[in-house]
Parts: sequence; structure tokens; C-alpha cells
Amino acid sequence: MAVRINPSILAADFANFERELGRITTADLVHVDIMDNHFVPNLTFGPAMTERLQELSTIPLDVHLMIDDPDRWAPGYAELGAYSVTFHAEAVRDAAALARRLRDIGARAGIALKPGTPVEPFLDLLPEFDQVLVMTVEPGFGGQSFMPETMPKLVALREAVSRHGLDVWLQVDGGITEQTIAVAAEAGADTFVAGSSVFRGDPTEQIALLRAAAEAHAH
Ligand code: DX5
Ligand code: ZN
Repeated sequence: MAVRINPSILAADFANFERELGRITTADLVHVDIMDNHFVPNLTFGPAMTERLQELSTIPLDVHLMIDDPDRWAPGYAELGAYSVTFHAEAVRDAAALARRLRDIGARAGIALKPGTPVEPFLDLLPEFDQVLVMTVEPGFGGQSFMPETMPKLVALREAVSRHGLDVWLQVDGGITEQTIAVAAEAGADTFVAGSSVFRGDPTEQIALLRAAAEAHAH
């Protein structure tokens, strides 16, 4: 199975995004964490910075919205050209309606689940989405430890996606390393966000190591 490695620029040098993008050209997508200091305690940046990243990046953007009121703000990210826009289940009012709107604009639509959010209520909605993001840490900060207790959600998602023959990417985000990526791939993930583990070393080498580990354990 094809795997995707999406470096998170939350771990990059915020004053040198152009240079940092140049270090991750072997990635599949660039993961862009939008935090509003309300849905999560941390604050990053918004549409203006994302639009500039979109202009600079040679690979598509995977936007992860950790914000309140995504029903209002998510379409703007699709309109500026983001390849994929993922909003949180805990913050959205009408997940299916927002996903349809994102798809109408031309983006892939994703829904994200915090570690404590059960997956069952969303299994019937899977055809509405192009991606489900199972958070493997509490959203808000990079550099946290992977939570293996979230893996049963991936197993349930992979089973549902296979049973219905759907093309929905299953993404994990938080604490992904060469070791934990194998665990997540075994559980059914095919799309992997990694911040610290990519940017703390040589990103090209780290991306290759992560990709090899994921491919060795992917379904
Ligand atoms: C956390 C963010 C992640 C973060 C992951 O809330 O959504 O994308 O960048 O960072 P690492 O890989 O360092 O756990
Ligand atoms: Zn993220």
C-alpha cells in the first residue's frame, strides 16, 4: 500500500519557512497546523501565512485546523488552494455539510478526532470524507509522546474502509517516530504526520527512514 509522509512545519524555523520547505521536497504533503488559542491553548498562524506557504511550496498543503468554528473558517483554506483541509469533530457543527462544501471548492475534506473522541459515530459518515485524522497526542503542541491507546480507532477505521471499499486516507499525527510509525501502520494508518522527528535531523534522511518503516508495516 502507498504511504504518505507529511512533515509538520510546526517543528520548522518559523522565520525561514522558504528555506525549511526546501528541506522537505521528498515529502508527499506539507502539514500545516492552524491553532487559534481557543480550541487549543497554542497559537500559530492563519490564512495569510497559509496562502504564502501555498505560493512557495512545490508540494501540496495538508491543512490541519485546530480552531473553533471551522464551519465558518475552513472554506477559506480550500479557496486559497490547500490540497486537503481537516477540521476537528469536536469543533464542527455540521461535519457532513462542511465536508461537502470543502469538496465543492476542490479540496480534499478531512475530519480529525482528539484522543478521547470515539470513532463509532463517524463510521457511517466515512463516504463524506477523503481523510480521517486520528490524533495520537492531545492537539496543541509538537514533541509529545505517541498514545498507543488511540490505535483501536485506526483498526476500526481500516476495517470499515476495507469493508465498504472506500478510498479514505487514515492519518496519524503526534509523536510519530521510526518506532511508533510501525505501530500506527500495523493498526491501519497510511498517512503519517511527523514534526520533531523530521526536522530534528536531516529531513531527507528522516523522511526516507519513516517511509521505509511505514512501508514495511503497512497493510
Ligand atoms: C500537534 C500537531 C502536530 C505536531 C506534531 O497538535 O497537530 O501536527 O506538529 O508534532 P510531533 O511530530 O513533534 O509530535
Ligand atoms: Zn497537526
